[in-house]
Order: sequence, then structure tokens, then C-alpha cells
Amino acid sequence: MSFGPPLLEDSRKIMLLGSGELGKEMAIEAQRMGVEVIAVDRYDMAPAIHVAHRRYVVNMMDGNAIKALVRRESPDAIIAEIEAINTDALLDLEEEGFRVMPNARAVKVCMNRVELRRLAAEELQLPTARYFFAEDFEDVKKACMDLGFPCLLKPEMSSSGHGHVLISKYEDVERGFKDALTHARGGGRKVVVEEYVRIDRELTVLTYRYPQGNNAVTATIPPIEHQRPEGIYHYVESWHPSTVSNDIIERAREYAIKLVNKLGGLGIYGVEILITRDGRVLFSEASPRPHDTGLVTLVSTDINEFQIHVRSALGLPTPEVKLVTPAAAHVILAETEAWAPRITGLEETLRIPGVQVRLFGKPFAYRHRRMGIVLATGNTVEEAREKARLAVSLIKVR
Ligand SMILES: Nc1ncnc2c1ncn2[C@@H]1O[C@H](COP(=O)(O)OP(=O)(O)OP(=O)(O)O)[C@@H](O)[C@H]1O
Ligand SMILES: [Mg+2]
Repeated sequence: MSFGPPLLEDSRKIMLLGSGELGKEMAIEAQRMGVEVIAVDRYDMAPAIHVAHRRYVVNMMDGNAIKALVRRESPDAIIAEIEAINTDALLDLEEEGFRVMPNARAVKVCMNRVELRRLAAEELQLPTARYFFAEDFEDVKKACMDLGFPCLLKPEMSSSGHGHVLISKYEDVERGFKDALTHARGGGRKVVVEEYVRIDRELTVLTYRYPQGNNAVTATIPPIEHQRPEGIYHYVESWHPSTVSNDIIERAREYAIKLVNKLGGLGIYGVEILITRDGRVLFSEASPRPHDTGLVTLVSTDINEFQIHVRSALGLPTPEVKLVTPAAAHVILAETEAWAPRITGLEETLRIPGVQVRLFGKPFAYRHRRMGIVLATGNTVEEAREKARLAVSLIKVR
């Protein structure tokens, strides 16, 4: 007589630390590979929890909690899905022999703007916007004067544009520094003061490493292009492929490969590149995981960014990724704060050929929270973008 569920012959397990929309897609891909999925987040019913075998709700800045969970579950791979994780716990776990994706150091470096900038700009000599590191008001003032106005303050640790402050004149420096620090994560006092560049285009170069014998092969996917409205520091729209020149693509790829090879490990990274109106191609930052703007690969490529990451987590290869159609994605934002928000307009939206909607299933909404995404395909990127924009204008979350 047997008790409990049958075990797969080659049963494997992954643990997601962070269970948002990116985690949800990874969980689905892992499920498709017959892999057991453990989802962890700070709140219950986060998107990936809906599609995981089991879940834990803990504060992910609590290193002891993370270590206890990992030791108890003993997953084959740990996927850090968000930035706000106790990265020292990941370093310890890696030391104990657990596989952290892409590796614990990369997760730690990428969550820290100062460390990442140092590595990319100073060690690897990748071009970036002009910048200074600053720790106190005097440093910030000096940096702003040197860079000129407007300039941008970014806390050492933050994501999704939180705490970015655009300073347009000398009198605003002190307030701006205070504002940036209020939004910083983990109580860090450092900021990066950056030249405010006039952006022409923005790219994400998805770059991944998969195992081959004892080595890793590094490959990229043709860049994704994305855009945000003026004054908002997170993307709303992305499309694939980008329409920039081959020369720019080659440079962006070169920077991405250099950086990712330096960070190492296995799995996918999103390398963010800014193209300025004065023609510079600049490295901006990188995520050691599938990228928000890469959600478009759910329709644009034969193997999407989540599959790639899961395959690498399992030690499996992804030798080639093909673009199958021009496509675009547009985020669906909530209008107001609401529990179990109502979503309307789906019927009209889905009448548009080539349009799909992915709703993340977040149990509560607040103004401008990302609640889902519209995906659209077309004969050209322009057509796909138009469809996505029309589709998203029909959907309301409130
Ligand atoms: N120096 C700059 N000048 C002008 N705009 C910038 C500059 N740096 C960043 N931006 C804009 O702000 C956006 C967010 O910046 P960045 O990626 O550094 O922040 P983030 O908090 O990590 O955001 P996310 O987590 O969404 O990637 C960029 O995509 C770009 O549009
Ligand atoms: Mg970014």
C-alpha cells in the first residue's frame, strides 16, 4: 500500500524566493517539466503561490527564516525572484552546497547599485551615464554641481524606480537627498548621483548561461525595446524585436555578454541599456533573473525567458531561441486601492485578433500596481504595439 502522492522517478524541486508575476511564469514552466515548486513570499496568495505545490509566507529579509526553509525543503535550485532578499543568507546557503540562481554573489551585486556600477563601469569599463557615489549631503552637493542640473539621485538599494529623485536646481538638493533615502531599502545611506541623460531608446538584452560539461555557454536574445512615460521610472510598454540599428544591437550585446560572464553562474539576466539622444549606448543596470520587460517573450519567442531560467536551474541547456513573431506587451495598472479588484473590459479586449491577457491574480490592488499584462502579436512591431495599446485602454482594474 502506498501513501501520499507518487514520486517522479527523477523528481526535482525548485524554490522561488519571491512569488510575483515573474515567479508565476517560472512556476508554470517548472510544472510543465514535472518539477515540484515551492513558492515563498511575504504575503499569501502572491501570484506564484496560485500555481505552486506548496507555499511559505515569511519575511524574506529574515536570513534565519530563509535558511530554515531551504534546509527543510532541500530544493535543487533556489531562484531569487525579487531584490528584497537577505543576500547574506543566500551566500551561506551556496556555501552549504545549494544552487542559487544565477549565483549568490550575482544576486548580491545586482541588488546594490553602487557595487554593480563599480563592477560594470570601473572594472569592466562599460560606458555609463556620468555618476558619483555619495554618502552625505556635502558629497551629494559636490556631485550635483559637477554633473550639472538636472541630475538624478538613486538610492544604493531600491527597485522599480522607488526613491529616484530628479533634482533640477541647487535649492532642491537637500530635500532630494532626504527623499531618496526615505525610499531606500535596508537603511543604506549611499546614493548614486547620476547625470540625467536624454533617453532616445531603452533596451533589455536578455542574456543567459547554460551548462555544457563543466563550462557554461553564454548567449543572448535579440534586444527587447521598452518605454516609460516621462517622469515615471518603470516601464509600461515593451516590444520585440527592437527597431534600433545593428550597430547599436552589437554594442549592447557586447556589454551584456561582458557583464554576465563576469557575474557568472547559470540562468538568465536582463541587462538594461540606455541609448541617448546624443548617440551614446550606455549600460544602466542588470537583473539576475527574468526581466519584467521580457514578459513579451511569452509570445515573441519559441522559448521564453522563464523556460530558459528554469532549464538552467535544472542544469539543462537552451542552445537556441528563435523569434517567432513581432510582439508587444503593455502593463495593466490598477486605478485605485481595492481588495479583490474588479476587472472589466476583457470581452472587448479579447475581440482584437492576436491579443492575450495575463492577469497576475494579486489579491489586492493599489493605485498603479501592476495587476496584469496585455500581450499582442502583429505583422510588424508597430501593429503589435497599436493592438496592445488599444487593448489596455479597454481594461479597467478597480
Ligand atoms: N541617468 C539617467 N538619466 C535619465 N533617465 C534615467 C537615468 N537612469 C535611469 N533612468 C530611467 O529610469 C528608469 C529606471 O532606472 P533604473 O533601472 O536604474 O531603476 P530601477 O529602480 O532599478 O528600476 P527597475 O527595477 O524598474 O529596473 C530607466 O529605465 C530609465 O528610463
Ligand atoms: Mg531598471
